[in-house]
Amino acid sequence: MKTTISQVSEHVNQEVTIGSWLANKRSSGKIAFLQLRDGTGFIQGVVVKAEVDEETFQLAKNMTQETSLYITGTVVEDTRSPFGYELQVKQLEVIHESSDYPITPKEHGTEFLMDHRHLWLRSKKQHAIMKIRNDIIRATYEYFNQNGYVKIDPPILTGASAEGTTELFHTKYFDEEAYLSQSGQLYMEAAAMAFGKVFSFGPTFRAEKSKTRRHLIEFWMIEPEMAFMDHEDSLIVQEEYVSYIAQSVLKNCRLELDVLERDVSKLENIQAPFPRITYDDAIKLLKEKGYDDIEWGEDFGAPHETAIAESFDKPVFITEYPANIKAFYMKPHPERPEVVLCADLIAPEGYGEIIGGSQRIDDLHLMEQRYKEHHLTGDAYEWYLELRKYGSVPHSGFGLGLERTVAWMSGVEHVRETIPFPRLLNRLYP
Ligand code: 4AD
Ligand code: MG
Repeated sequence: MKTTISQVSEHVNQEVTIGSWLANKRSSGKIAFLQLRDGTGFIQGVVVKAEVDEETFQLAKNMTQETSLYITGTVVEDTRSPFGYELQVKQLEVIHESSDYPITPKEHGTEFLMDHRHLWLRSKKQHAIMKIRNDIIRATYEYFNQNGYVKIDPPILTGASAEGTTELFHTKYFDEEAYLSQSGQLYMEAAAMAFGKVFSFGPTFRAEKSKTRRHLIEFWMIEPEMAFMDHEDSLIVQEEYVSYIAQSVLKNCRLELDVLERDVSKLENIQAPFPRITYDDAIKLLKEKGYDDIEWGEDFGAPHETAIAESFDKPVFITEYPANIKAFYMKPHPERPEVVLCADLIAPEGYGEIIGGSQRIDDLHLMEQRYKEHHLTGDAYEWYLELRKYGSVPHSGFGLGLERTVAWMSGVEHVRETIPFPRLLNRLYP
């Protein structure tokens, strides 16, 4: 019977056939151990010389890495395998023989692996990271669907910039100038006025000249937007949502976390509520820790964020940043207009800012004033003003960066391993 590695538990002591690839192999004169993968998982196939015909044993012994094959054998329980099962092989049928596979079991440099990303994705560790990514996406849809949100897809080609004009990818749109979206937020605000609670999930683009472990040029963002919710309400959604995905990964990705040697106690700890610290207090905390290179009114760099996060054992919200270092649409604090009703969620262990969010300006006149200050003109922004003209309501939203979240949950150092084909400064291949 044809099956997959993920389903062998349903076929214990039965004979099955699995379409697979040879990931690795060990053999002696009498026995060959084939490490097989089929996309759904990894399993060991044991070929005993005395139990198969000579041709099959020679085939197993000489099989090259990444050869594709149909393998037939009996599923047996195996307590030594992390997966719990192995295959006692009876028959092998090679589909395609692979030769000189470039990624061998020895160590390779990062640039080499990145050049071979199309093949590197097959490795056990990369497979585990993508499965965790997949579970976070699945849990995201589950969380927002269960809580009454409607999925809305904002456009990718846009005429307006949401997060500032310096990091835009420009393109021609027939005779007009267009950009690749930096954030779907402005459109999600329109959607919230039509559907109440909405979320988006899609690619976003930033022409950032940053070469750090946290920056991608193309990354995926989850952007919820909620009508009739203030900043405080939004923080509660954020901590509930992040806790939900962490607990989901813990529940559904045990094997993957094992492969990645992730310290799961770090994930068990991601439970709402999360601590909060104002920007003012964060500056004080940094001064106490000996950071003299930052003054009130300046934005935090990665070392500052890491230092702040180290004072907490959970993700921490930094709230109420100075208005002049944040986006034009953020609502000023009612008693202190020099700061805005916003928060960044900083992950522990140096993973940095996972979420940026805020309450939005809902007053037409204040928004018009911001347009002037930020030189936002033209048709591209007209419609956004109209949202404040026809039944404007308090509303809030946030954006969670998927790749940084995957890196954090998986415990991998760099975001380049958390997206199938990373777009980085100077990398558009493969
Ligand atoms: O803080 P950002 O820029 O917020 C926005 O774009 C808002 N419009 C979202 C909203 O309120 N709807 O980006 C949100 C998140 C960051 O916290 C970070 O996790 C991620 O997106 N992010 C990046 N991830 C990888 N590479 C980059 N270059 C990123 N820039 C932002
Ligand atoms: Mg931000």
